[in-house]
Amino acid sequence: MIRDLHEFLSWLEKRKRLLRVKSPVSPELEITAFTDLANRHSRYASKSLLFDAVKGYDIPVATNLFGHAETLHELFKGSDFDALLAGAISGKFDIRLLGAAKMLLDSKPKVRGRRHDYVRLSSLDELPIPKVWPGDAGRYITFPLVVSRSPQGSQINVGVYRLQVYDSNTTGMHWQSQKGGAIHADEALEKGTMLNVSAAIGSDPYNMLSGIMPLPPNLNEFSFSGILRGGRSLLMENGKYPPVPANSEFILNGYVDPNEKRVEGPFGDHTGYYSLPESYHVFHIDEIYMRPGAVYASSVVGKPWHEDAVIGMFILDYLKPFIKSLNSSIRDIYLPPEGLFNSLCLVSIKKRFPGEAKKAMFSVLGLGQLSFTKIVMVFDDDIDLKDTGQVLWALSTRVEPEHDIEVIRHATSDSLDHMSAITSYGSKLLIDATKKRRDEGFPREWPDTITMPKAVMDKVNKLWVRMKH
Ligand SMILES: Cc1cc2nc3c(=O)[nH]c(=O)nc-3n(C[C@H](O)[C@H](O)[C@H](O)COP(=O)(O)O)c2cc1C
Repeated sequence: MIRDLHEFLSWLEKRKRLLRVKSPVSPELEITAFTDLANRHSRYASKSLLFDAVKGYDIPVATNLFGHAETLHELFKGSDFDALLAGAISGKFDIRLLGAAKMLLDSKPKVRGRRHDYVRLSSLDELPIPKVWPGDAGRYITFPLVVSRSPQGSQINVGVYRLQVYDSNTTGMHWQSQKGGAIHADEALEKGTMLNVSAAIGSDPYNMLSGIMPLPPNLNEFSFSGILRGGRSLLMENGKYPPVPANSEFILNGYVDPNEKRVEGPFGDHTGYYSLPESYHVFHIDEIYMRPGAVYASSVVGKPWHEDAVIGMFILDYLKPFIKSLNSSIRDIYLPPEGLFNSLCLVSIKKRFPGEAKKAMFSVLGLGQLSFTKIVMVFDDDIDLKDTGQVLWALSTRVEPEHDIEVIRHATSDSLDHMSAITSYGSKLLIDATKKRRDEGFPREWPDTITMPKAVMDKVNKLWVRMKH
């Protein structure tokens, strides 16, 4: 079990997945340029970076912590969550399932008193916050765990939402309107109160990953990280502000006035474009704390490929069994990183009844953060969704545009999509690339796909191997 960011960095270093940059590097653009290079060299297996000598600061900066797919698999394989899922999906009893079920009941985070070794800082200017891309509106805190408590109950939400630095004690609060933190701000507006918010920068990998996971609103992310970790999360009391991980490197405490909005952006986003300036809430910071010897954690996104692609793939793999169990039609689902995880969703089904492709499309568009998806394509289960060649072949041979393409207007969309004429409100494209049946009104014979009998292929394969090429 990894107890904090420092142990995480040592863990990465032992596996030769950490590159220490000892030369002086500016937080303005140069940290991004280095991280970008690391990602360009290797997609699924890029190194994490630790910048020891950030110009103008005594605080090191870590980026690309989750850029290596093996890191995620090693951290979470054999976790209780893994066992829970396997048991729930297969219905088979596994001894680990007992432990996992106990863990689920027992995953409530432990809260202890505030630590006394934290140093109080007076300004965000003391933190090595990078300016990520040249056209960004300013410096951005890109990997904060933003914690809020529902003003209408006690439910805690944790989300990773970027914070644009406006001045020494004020930032933007870029929570999209459907996200947990924004829902708490709406509740505060209804109740006529301010919303106290805390943000932790840098923690153990389980807490950091849970902040990104699209979890149901009634599941506390710190309980979930307890399941991933295989041990309860340890939180710290935080005065009138929501509790934060006891292993936070930095803590920002403040409030959001639900009536106040300010222009946020542009910011070089994971779409590969600068997201357009929009109105978002404002985070007024009352207190800033730093753990002695703290490391500042940051994430770089931009035109694919970056660590968000590796994280997104991992989250999809983890949640796929859940998605499949919610809709038995769905055989497989794939969100290509180049489709930004929000724009393009490929689904396969084994069609048993007319219109089943539509059923799969509607369920994708009605499910949590998948509802942001702009283009949904459905294929038969003989198509490997990760094989672009097969996907293009099915699109070319199983789609009749007049019948198989629908555009749904006036739907929710990703606020980062600059193509929709109104922010967060756009259209959907549905493409049914499954083989059509008579009971779906297809008037002609559906031709057989060409395949060779296995016995013939086996025989020829053997001869082929023996031949000299
Ligand atoms: C590096 C990184 C930055 C992110 N920045 C934002 C952001 O600025 N705004 C946002 O709404 N979601 C952002 N996300 C996605 C959210 O963290 C994710 O949707 C999460 O599930 C939100 O938590 P919630 O469901 O509790 O709201 C980011 C994800 C990553 C990996």
